[in-house]
Amino acid sequence: MRKTLSYVFMMLAVMFVAAPVYAQGGATAGTNWVAITSGFAMAIASAVCGLGQAKATAASAEALMKDITTLLHNKLTKYNWVGFYMLEKEGDHDMLVLGPFKGTMTPHTRIPLNQGICGAAASSGMTIVINDVASDPRYLACSLETKSEIVVPIFVHGKIVGELDVDSHFLAAFGPTDRKLCEHAAAVFGKFLESHTA
Ligand code: SME
Repeated sequence: MRKTLSYVFMMLAVMFVAAPVYAQGGATAGTNWVAITSGFAMAIASAVCGLGQAKATAASAEALMKDITTLLHNKLTKYNWVGFYMLEKEGDHDMLVLGPFKGTMTPHTRIPLNQGICGAAASSGMTIVINDVASDPRYLACSLETKSEIVVPIFVHGKIVGELDVDSHFLAAFGPTDRKLCEHAAAVFGKFLESHTA
């Protein structure tokens, strides 16, 4: 009887936690989701499923950016500001220009590549996680409440075209699972651009 019950619990865990997370693995080559548990896992699983659906149904890049920001902001309650910055030419320089976002208005609507955490992520092509923004002199304040931040570059055919920026009111809000989720979201958008632009 005890054995049967433990099988039932195992099956439920696989159906409602592991399967939705692993099932989306194909969307991004190389995404290797780790087994995670709890309500946080449900939020992540639900966000991953939503990202797949959003990519499949989006009518435009702008619509997909709006869907992704809304999805991440709504599902992950510690993601207090979620937005896109896309690279645009300004004279002979590249500039990060604010796109769709969810959260309070930011004064940083255009960021040069030599400024901020956003500039550092775009110029290095690497994800940057800042556990305490007060300790990083590069940080450009968007809101006094922001305590931690993650910035993930977006690539199209291997070339950086922009980035996904997420801020939290909590210190060290972005652990390894958050990083995987944000990198997955950025990759979903990059893949969409690859298949919808010449
Ligand atoms: N904090 C960013 C600026 C963008 S706002 O957070 C929305 C940075 O340091 O580049």
